[in-house]
Amino acid sequence: MKKILVTGGLGFIGSHTVVELQNEGFDVVIIDDLSNSSIDVLEGIVSITGKSPIFERLDLKEKLSVEQFFMKHKDIVGVIHFAASKAVGESVEKPLDYYENNLNTLIYMLKEVLNLNTSNFIFSSSCTVYGQAEQMPITENAPVQPAESPYGNTKQIGEEIIRDTCKVKHELNAIALRYFNPIGAHESGKIGELPIGIPQNLVPFITQTGAGLRDCLSVFGNDYPTDDGTCIRDYIHVVDLAKAHVVALMRLLDQKNISNFETFNIGTGVGSSVLEVIASFERVSGKSLNYKFAPRREGDVISAYANTEKANTVLGWKAMSNLDDAMRSAWNWEKNIRNI
Ligand code: UD1
Repeated sequence: MKKILVTGGLGFIGSHTVVELQNEGFDVVIIDDLSNSSIDVLEGIVSITGKSPIFERLDLKEKLSVEQFFMKHKDIVGVIHFAASKAVGESVEKPLDYYENNLNTLIYMLKEVLNLNTSNFIFSSSCTVYGQAEQMPITENAPVQPAESPYGNTKQIGEEIIRDTCKVKHELNAIALRYFNPIGAHESGKIGELPIGIPQNLVPFITQTGAGLRDCLSVFGNDYPTDDGTCIRDYIHVVDLAKAHVVALMRLLDQKNISNFETFNIGTGVGSSVLEVIASFERVSGKSLNYKFAPRREGDVISAYANTEKANTVLGWKAMSNLDDAMRSAWNWEKNIRNI
């Protein structure tokens, strides 16, 4: 059995990836500090897969603990590194915390990965590295633009740290997956997104409004140069995204990677406007959503959706779910946790 370390494995994308890894027969060790996740997620994972991953509550900033962890788990053959802070607004308020938490931990992790017998590393990157790309859909060759926030910058610098390391450490094999907008939940309704406080992202805000926790969704801007005036994003089902990690990991384990640092866009290739996302929610839930138009949100790009050609042909992965499927699963999850 191949042992894989998943950092941030109790988070939204991490937990869905642990499920897919266990379904594929991998042995999983999770490190999570529970700063933005709950221990209950572990139960959800066990209940879906019938298997219990090893769990270590650990703050990756504690270098010594990380070293001790790796002493115990010398047989790890791959690391999927999700653990990071991800709130854009908070990163503007606390830049040093973001740089410390997202970059120091990445460096410690890479040093440990280099000590392993097989140094395979998957990094959570983001379409945020493209900023407002000039051409849609966005290919991996689109230029990386100056980051809008310290959070976005940690993703760009993170990729650079890995790229520079790969240049000199040929034993390191890394893939950065640039996610578009992950939404939805596992079909079982046992794991999903658990935003703390008021959700900053569109879909959890919509489902919480549908569930009666919020009064009204503010649609940030209706005067953008798009067909209906609202922003366009590429919303990808989190289970499709989780599967992309397993495929990327297998690419490294099977030594099929062409270079030792590769990047892939992980999206559906379909752009949807905010109003289309609301319409999807209304379709799958049978409820009408209370929303109003509000001013634009600072830092929002007008449009971002993926060209998925490279992921489809080189990586051999394709998103299987559409917006309605993903929205249905998000609504199912929201209903489950609110006992509706
Ligand atoms: C946001 C982050 C991005 C991060 C991603 C992770 C910002 C500016 N960007 O992306 O860096 O990688 O989350 O998932 O925060 N919207 C509303 N009303 C709301 C919430 C959102 O109209 O209450 C709109 C936004 O203006 C945007 C779309 O919905 O057009 C999607 O927003 P969101 O879910 O926050 O994702 P991004 O902004 O794309």
